[in-house]
Amino acid sequence: MSETRRFRIASIPGDGVGPEVVAAGRQVLDALATASHGAFAFEWTEFPWGCGFHARTGRMIDEDGPERVRDFDALYFGAVGWPTVPDHVSLWGLRLRLCQGLDQWANVRPVTFLPGITAPLRAADTAPLDWVVVRENSEGEYGGFGGRNFAGRGPGGEVAVQSSVFTEVGCERIMRFAFDLARTRDRRKVSSVTKSNAQQYGMVLWDEVFARVAADYPDVETESVLVDAMAAKFVLRPQDLSVVVASNLHADILSDLGSALSGSLGLAASANLNPERRTPSMFEPVHGSAPDIAGQGVCNPVGAIGSAALMLDHLGLAAEGDRVRRAIAAACAAGVRTRDVGGTASTKDVTAAVVDHLGG
Ligand code: NAI
Ligand code: MG
Repeated sequence: MSETRRFRIASIPGDGVGPEVVAAGRQVLDALATASHGAFAFEWTEFPWGCGFHARTGRMIDEDGPERVRDFDALYFGAVGWPTVPDHVSLWGLRLRLCQGLDQWANVRPVTFLPGITAPLRAADTAPLDWVVVRENSEGEYGGFGGRNFAGRGPGGEVAVQSSVFTEVGCERIMRFAFDLARTRDRRKVSSVTKSNAQQYGMVLWDEVFARVAADYPDVETESVLVDAMAAKFVLRPQDLSVVVASNLHADILSDLGSALSGSLGLAASANLNPERRTPSMFEPVHGSAPDIAGQGVCNPVGAIGSAALMLDHLGLAAEGDRVRRAIAAACAAGVRTRDVGGTASTKDVTAAVVDHLGG
């Protein structure tokens, strides 16, 4: 019998519903590995980082955290954030620390419409909808440049500056990534999201780089759409979308809109990629730690399981990734749904239904 391919995965469940959805994804992946009869296996190492870790240590992550996970094949992440820690401390301290520390500069966020789930977007009833948001994940509005000062002026006198950083290197690499992705899809089209009418420096550079990169891909259709108009287009003309490339903040907002249009934030998957594979990539649902429903066993695991499927693609197991996506669709079509999408099933029920459909 041939050698088992072993994948070392760092699991970072984090806070709130994070541990619940990460457990669901691990269960699906381990079921796949068992069914592979020794073809591949996952070795899990769990890291306890998050707001509970912060309460014990005063830090969101070990000092050398990014270094400790650098040699893993991939990271599987839940969500971070809890009311005990300010959100900018928890997000910067863990998720952004990992994404930036490991230069996971491309964030891929498919918007998927599933059978059996009533999407608020009525167009989904008649047209097959399927697009993917490609998010610049390393700079832009989340570059972390700025500061606060003048508190000494007294109440009401403080000043804060939050700068956006757009580099030609950063724009070009994410746009090439988007065009390369478009070439793998049925519809070869890239829509660039901009706001260059109002933001005349960073977004004009973004537009110029887009035009330059587009010239290298004459076989790919393009358009450039202002972010506010793109929000409307997600609702009114979604059948015109295939790959949507956008800055860090714009894509953050648009991808939540996309998941909401497909039925719930709990459905959306994402991959934080270092496409050069110098560092491990990180797979996580789009949603946050959902403190309002955490610990009740009712959160939707589909986004986290879909993220596990993206991890399989990245590890060279694309056929297995498709198998997981088909199992998710089959479980939804069979009516096994959590309450955010109108059902009564628990997180565990949905996970078990996906595992049951892996064979189909
Ligand atoms: P959220 O995504 O946690 O929740 C927004 C709404 O969606 C809530 O009503 C929640 O119940 C629902 N929801 C989210 N995930 C769900 C799931 N799996 N199943 C069913 N319903 C689900 O966003 P919110 O409330 O703005 O933030 C909560 C915390 O999460 C904050 O601390 C925030 O900073 C953090 N956050 C972390 C992210 C990450 O780690 N990647 C991303 C977004 C927010
Ligand atoms: Mg977000």
